[in-house]
Amino acid sequence: MKWGVIATWRMALDGIKKAALMLDQDGSIFDSLQQVITEVEDCPDYTSVGYGALPNEKGIIELDAAFMDGTTLSFGAVSGVINFKNPVKIARKLMDERFNTFLAGQGAQEYAQINGFEEKNMMTDCSYNIWQKKLLEKKEVLKPYDGHDTVGTAGVDTSSRMAAATSTSGLFMKKTGRIGDSPLPGCGLYSDSSIGSATATGLGEDIMKGCICYETVRLMEYGLSPQDAAQKAVEQFNKKLMDRRGQAGDISVVCMNKDAKWGAATNTGHFSFVTATYSEKPTVYIASFRDGKQIILPATEEWIRNNKE
Ligand code: GLY
Repeated sequence: MKWGVIATWRMALDGIKKAALMLDQDGSIFDSLQQVITEVEDCPDYTSVGYGALPNEKGIIELDAAFMDGTTLSFGAVSGVINFKNPVKIARKLMDERFNTFLAGQGAQEYAQINGFEEKNMMTDCSYNIWQKKLLEKKEVLKPYDGHDTVGTAGVDTSSRMAAATSTSGLFMKKTGRIGDSPLPGCGLYSDSSIGSATATGLGEDIMKGCICYETVRLMEYGLSPQDAAQKAVEQFNKKLMDRRGQAGDISVVCMNKDAKWGAATNTGHFSFVTATYSEKPTVYIASFRDGKQIILPATEEWIRNNKE
């Protein structure tokens, strides 16, 4: 039976390896995607997700996460969550609700507390020191992380169920309450088991202008392969932003269709992602957009060893 999983950035490799084993043994897509994300959320080395993430301008780590079930189209999300260990688990639980499925800040924390989710101070000495140093610099330059950002994942299990999930701390030094694309349906993620799933990473303020994940899935619905859909969605929207605004932030998308075929596209010079399917062992790829072309190559072992994010 066919299964597959794909995720943004090299940092998802350990989680993808575990998810691949789960999916190969007929594990559920929900448990498998949660595994990919929590692996990244729990690692203090990744400064754009979960424990050890970089804070907002006030020194507070506000986390966003989402989960979407491609079969029922149920969607759960949290934004601006403070001091909870795994925001993606809270988002997953919210998918079960009929109402109030997207909770922000205090409301999300109350829901997490009532439902017994683990609380944790998510600041490490390292993230605190980076924030302190940034304060002293007094430069206000908000930009997406270089070489890593939101962990987003999508896939299909052997029961043909599809899903997508995301988790991020958003932009370093963001304003209190700022929300990016990652928890927004259609922007940071989208899933429809009859077609495919997609998830995005990059500058939330630009990604959300194009509902890029919904667009990628829609293009797959109209017959494009996952690779062509990702490429067309990213390149057309990048062009639109350039034509209308003269600039476009970083936008990268990974996607998978119901047959476990994957695609990826970026408007940047360097975007890493990881995939594993019933016919492909866990593999890290690097995508780049050069001279109007998407170039996607497997990362070398040396690159994987030297680049953790
Ligand atoms: N892509 C993450 C964010 O902009 O918040």
